[in-house]
Amino acid sequence: MTAAFTARVERGIAWLELDLPAEPVNKITRAVRQEFERVLDKLASDPDVRAGVLISRKTGSFIAGADIDEFGALESREEAHALVRSGQALVTRLATLGKPMVAAISGACLGGGLETALACTYRIAADHPKTVIGLPEVQLGILPAAGGCQRLPRLIGARAALDMILAGKPVSARRARRLGIVDELVHPAILDRVAEEAAARLASGWEPKRRRGGLGDVALDDNPLGRRLVFSSARKQVLKKTGGHYPAPLAALQAVEHGMKHGLEAGLDLEASLFAELAVSPVSRNLVRIFFATTALKKDWGLPHEPPEPRTVDSLGIVGAGFMGASIGAVAVMKAGASVRFKDRDLPSVGRGLLVARRELAEQRERGRLTRFEHRRLSPLLSGGVGWDGFGRADLVIEAVFEDLGLKRQIFADLEGQVDDECVLASNTSTIPIARIAEGLRRPDRVLGMHFFSPVGKMPLLEVIVTERTAPAATVTAVAFGRRMGKTVIVVRDSPGFWVNRLLAPYLNEAGRLLQEGVAVETIDRTMTKYGFPVGPITLLDEVGLDVALKASTVMHAAYGDRMTPPGGLQRLTEDGRLGRKSQRGFFRYEGGKRREVDMAAYEIVGAHPDPQVPRDDVQPRLVYIMLNEAVRALDEGVVRNARDGDIGAVFGIGFPAFRGGPLRYLKEVGLAQAVATLETLAQQYGERFVPCERLVSMARTGEGFYPQ
Ligand code: 3HC
Repeated sequence: MTAAFTARVERGIAWLELDLPAEPVNKITRAVRQEFERVLDKLASDPDVRAGVLISRKTGSFIAGADIDEFGALESREEAHALVRSGQALVTRLATLGKPMVAAISGACLGGGLETALACTYRIAADHPKTVIGLPEVQLGILPAAGGCQRLPRLIGARAALDMILAGKPVSARRARRLGIVDELVHPAILDRVAEEAAARLASGWEPKRRRGGLGDVALDDNPLGRRLVFSSARKQVLKKTGGHYPAPLAALQAVEHGMKHGLEAGLDLEASLFAELAVSPVSRNLVRIFFATTALKKDWGLPHEPPEPRTVDSLGIVGAGFMGASIGAVAVMKAGASVRFKDRDLPSVGRGLLVARRELAEQRERGRLTRFEHRRLSPLLSGGVGWDGFGRADLVIEAVFEDLGLKRQIFADLEGQVDDECVLASNTSTIPIARIAEGLRRPDRVLGMHFFSPVGKMPLLEVIVTERTAPAATVTAVAFGRRMGKTVIVVRDSPGFWVNRLLAPYLNEAGRLLQEGVAVETIDRTMTKYGFPVGPITLLDEVGLDVALKASTVMHAAYGDRMTPPGGLQRLTEDGRLGRKSQRGFFRYEGGKRREVDMAAYEIVGAHPDPQVPRDDVQPRLVYIMLNEAVRALDEGVVRNARDGDIGAVFGIGFPAFRGGPLRYLKEVGLAQAVATLETLAQQYGERFVPCERLVSMARTGEGFYPQ
């Protein structure tokens, strides 16, 4: 195997240059670890070396962490324990080398990568968007276990460290500098030079001055009572956020607390034993699968053959400057740097849309996610009007008007006369088949769906919907642009509701039915958050908008018949002006934008009477299994191309519990025969909509799986 490190000594400084051959990123594999140890031994024993610089020669990646493939394949706790101990030994060797080491960070510095950098004496980061720094382990269901739970809090204070470790969200180089994780932030072009100078200074006995966190943080860390307060409030927050379903953040919290109380060695011991337990747990296995599925989707164009070149979207047209259109525009400007032209039927509507989009930019600026310079550069990219000005230049147009087939058709017909021949035309419809929108157009081959989810800035999924006539060039353009907007993109087949709403519709209908049978809103919602959804179905209805849900349920009922019959009540709620959160009235009451308790009047309007005597045991199986059954049916129809896309769509689009791996993965865990039996029982008790679909029955019989073995 070719070496990952190149080592050379110049003027008393040893340069350890890392570039893992034949891999897109630098990662710490077993072989890299062994080589690293040898290189460090040499450096330590060479009398000519006074200091070292650890630097990556691979573009975009300093070290992306431990090799996830390696720990994904671990078979026992003992094996996991041995692996993590060898990682810790390497990092300890680095930290106790006896010669100062500088980490010159350019590109992703994540997980074990940051733990390596933390074991160095000094850290310099290149100011570049690819330089992301963090400990994302909890997102994989494990904890930072090569000293991350020990060294980060010692460097930046417990509170700031916990913020990073428990959320697992990496930060930019600039933010890392502000937090005190890196000592210097430099232009990428001078990283080598600054690193060499720092190494030379350190070799001559210079000691960097650091201030740990804010003054308040230091006081808290040094005072046992303050520390206890930090940990107990962090624990509460974690439990609230995870509902106790994700053990990794709690384990990380424990490791940080233990290490601060009993010292580094004891902290490392606990890190190792907690890692050994978590790494082989089903939760971590599922989260790792989700990581690899998301990664695979970054390169999958949704085509059965070699993809053509996508058209670069510099100019985006958006028809319909309502909340959704405006948010799509804001994200397109911020993430993709595209210029965005809105069109709506009158100036006040355009004005409102521009206001919403500009507010989103301003919010990002306030949160420090956009610099003042970026904010100033990006804001003028938003413009709008009532005419078609600017649409002639558009590379892509997204229609985001109300769910009305006639209106959409009219807009697409008008668009054909305004845009150039290569422009891709997309509808952001959530349910209406794209082929119906494209009917009668001169060029239906450039029409597709781009179904974004609200809030667009936060929701990670985009469904790109292709018809039988959509040209591959249009598909790849939409997929590429979705990725530039930061989305995980699944390409789905055109059919009512596509993938996400196809699963959501029967689930929300069933929630409505339970309500009418006398189950309280809180019971329904709590049952599903306990199962692992971020919010319950009734809360979701209020968030999505009851008018939107009503429209969608009507389309779905018309398309799929009896099994998608919506429960009555939604119509009456909307007639009463209850549109959910956006109108500050729905199933819940709202005050000053904050959600309050359930509005008893809503029960009356839907004709429901909450009754504590109604049995609740079937609430969860009814809601879960109606969705699982529909997922298998839609997969069978080819709505998604494979189980991977289906699971990712459900996890990222609906909030299906990630620790369960997605609906199809979960079915496997339950066992298909068991799932069929449960559905049959539910069908006997509650009606035909629960009858297991043919594919599920036949798979249960043959023992076939959704994923290749
Ligand atoms: N281990 C194994 N493979 C990795 C990896 C890792 N840590 N990081 C990235 N890769 C692989 C990807 O799977 C992908 O492989 P492929 O090309 O064969 O499909 C390839 O590297 C490129 O990755 P992306 O397509 O994701 O490239 P991007 O440029 O979009 O993103 C990245 C790069 C930001 C580094 C992103 O890949 C990422 O977030 N990686 C995961 C980082 C992570 O979670 N690190 C923690 C690991 S756990 C750990 O360190 C435990 C320790 O505490 C003991």
